[in-house]
Amino acid sequence: MKTQPVLGIDIGGSGIKGAPVDLKAGDFAADRLRIPTPAKSTPAKVAAVVARIVEHFADQIGDGPIGVTIPSVVTHGITRSAANIDPSWIDAPAEQILSEHLGRTVVLVNDADAAGVAEVRYGAAKGHPGLVLMTTLGTGIGSALIYHGVLIPNTELGHLEIDGHDAETQASAGVRTKLGLTYEEYIPRLQRYYERVEALFWPDLFVVGGGISKNAGQYLPYLRLHTPIIPAELKNRAGIIGAAALAAEASAS
Ligand code: BGC
Repeated sequence: MKTQPVLGIDIGGSGIKGAPVDLKAGDFAADRLRIPTPAKSTPAKVAAVVARIVEHFADQIGDGPIGVTIPSVVTHGITRSAANIDPSWIDAPAEQILSEHLGRTVVLVNDADAAGVAEVRYGAAKGHPGLVLMTTLGTGIGSALIYHGVLIPNTELGHLEIDGHDAETQASAGVRTKLGLTYEEYIPRLQRYYERVEALFWPDLFVVGGGISKNAGQYLPYLRLHTPIIPAELKNRAGIIGAAALAAEASAS
């Protein structure tokens, strides 16, 4: 029997993207739809865009739950931080706002947490039995800590204080672009970051995602760590797939 796809939606700084996900295959069941993130991306404006994406896929997703990612700490449906998004998300009952706007069950999760879950279920760390630490290198640095397949949410390791700085302001892919650093110049920043995270968590595996992971060969082999460090596999599909998986799981429990 064919199971119904679950819609995953990824709210990012420049685009809001969604696709129905086939959770058996761990892949999109149809092409994704991307709509630019509105300027001054308040919860209400973002909810209106999310509604357009839901409408677009309505025929394929039935009345199932919807998984949504956001680059913020999310506890009990409330967005608690806004490092690279509009400050109006801080302490907003975002899950409730979205679900009231859509008239559907919404499960809201941190973007890196969703990507990490997808990589462990379907991607680079598939079936890994130990402690997996996923990091996403983008505008900021996101993290997901997954132990024996179970997510410990909101680790926010992009905001570790290292050498007196918020780590993501030194080592994110966005910083590399902003400063025009070559990979050779960027590698010491990554080395400092990952050796610090390693010393605190001693994971069994690091997975590195974010757009920059497609060039992983240019920097990952040069990092000197005890822990294996590998690129993510699901690329920009990870957030959507992980959000859909977490939504299905939350609504089944
Ligand atoms: C945010 C995290 C997010 C990460 C990646 C950080 O600035 O604090 O919540 O996961 O960026 O988007």
